[in-house]
Amino acid sequence: MIDLQASAALEDARSSGAYVKRDLTIVRGTGAILYDDADNRYIDLVGGQGSANLGHAHPAILAALEHQMRDLISCPELFHNPVRAQYQDALCRAANMARVFLCNSGTEANEGALKIARLTTGRTNIVATMRGFHGRTMGALAATWEKTYRQPFEPLMPGVRHVPYNNIDKLAEAVDESTAAVLLEVVQGEGGVHPAQAGYLAAARRLCDERGALLILDEVQTGFGRTGYLFAHEADDVQPDILCLAKSIAGGVPMGAVLMSERIGALPPSAHGSTFGGSPLACAAALAALDVYQNTDLIPRARRLGEAVLAHLRANLPPMAREVRGRGLMIGVELRGKVAPVLRALQARGVLALPAGATVLRLLPPLVIEEADLWTAMAAVIDVLNNETSPLRAEA
Ligand SMILES: Cc1ncc(COP(=O)(O)O)c(C=O)c1O
Repeated sequence: MIDLQASAALEDARSSGAYVKRDLTIVRGTGAILYDDADNRYIDLVGGQGSANLGHAHPAILAALEHQMRDLISCPELFHNPVRAQYQDALCRAANMARVFLCNSGTEANEGALKIARLTTGRTNIVATMRGFHGRTMGALAATWEKTYRQPFEPLMPGVRHVPYNNIDKLAEAVDESTAAVLLEVVQGEGGVHPAQAGYLAAARRLCDERGALLILDEVQTGFGRTGYLFAHEADDVQPDILCLAKSIAGGVPMGAVLMSERIGALPPSAHGSTFGGSPLACAAALAALDVYQNTDLIPRARRLGEAVLAHLRANLPPMAREVRGRGLMIGVELRGKVAPVLRALQARGVLALPAGATVLRLLPPLVIEEADLWTAMAAVIDVLNNETSPLRAEA
């Protein structure tokens, strides 16, 4: 049994070093509440960085995993499997898409989408957006905007051009007969919680159709109820050619998906692959998760709570905050100073939240959060922004 006091030091010594960790050891969670190694309670607005829309230890996910793990955990797509078949059909129907390639993460979903776009169109170039985030593997990283993530690893996949988000004229200038696909988030998450403006995605859709490019929507962070819709693009009334999903797809179990419209058709044999993709264990969890998303009031509730929270934060905007943005329970508060001290002050008050860049406070509560906990957390956010930090102290 590992000494909990020593475990943080052990982890610091042995883990890659690629993550900047907070001074906190989380040992268990239930719903939207996390507990540290001293059994202190925290309201979770990190939501597993978007992977815990169903919260922690959701009973439907636990039951599905327990049941499936006794039957079969791994089964590569060399063979048919009934749980996978059922999930692929349910997911395609839910997203109004024809086919799906299952993988294991968001970056992998985007990587697959880029390959499929090249294969389908015979074109090489990708148009992505400034402040966009699509993952850390070489193709997805090339489409990611943040230079500090990209530059140390160049040369990356060539042929990616970045244009300003929410600017249809710049998009029109960039998309031509060499463009395989336009890759967009519906709300830019890591880049600072910037929602697509009304009409932007529809204009991108029309442009892609005119110029023979595919529209890829990266809904890795916005999918599965986060914005108050099963998929965020439903609110924009736009259908993509390729839809990338991951994070909360399987109730916290690692999984990703690349959904393809009828236009894409079936991929040629051996065009892509993944050992773990479509494992029965992940499919069972994902099937249970989809059932919760589709057959409970969780998503309309997220829409209603999100609207109430956005209105409340805007009505009580502390001087340190410039702007509140968001859709559903995906909320960003643009600050006049650095977010790091705000995160520390919130943690000291039992609330865990995320940054999105250096100056945006990002809130991704599990959709199952109790209303009382949500409002306690919002009071802490407003209080911390009013009292704990000033723009000057926030420079730390
Ligand atoms: C929009 C978007 N795409 C892709 C990714 C990468 O997902 P993963 O970390 O599962 O590779 C993320 C992760 O934050 C994301 O927000």
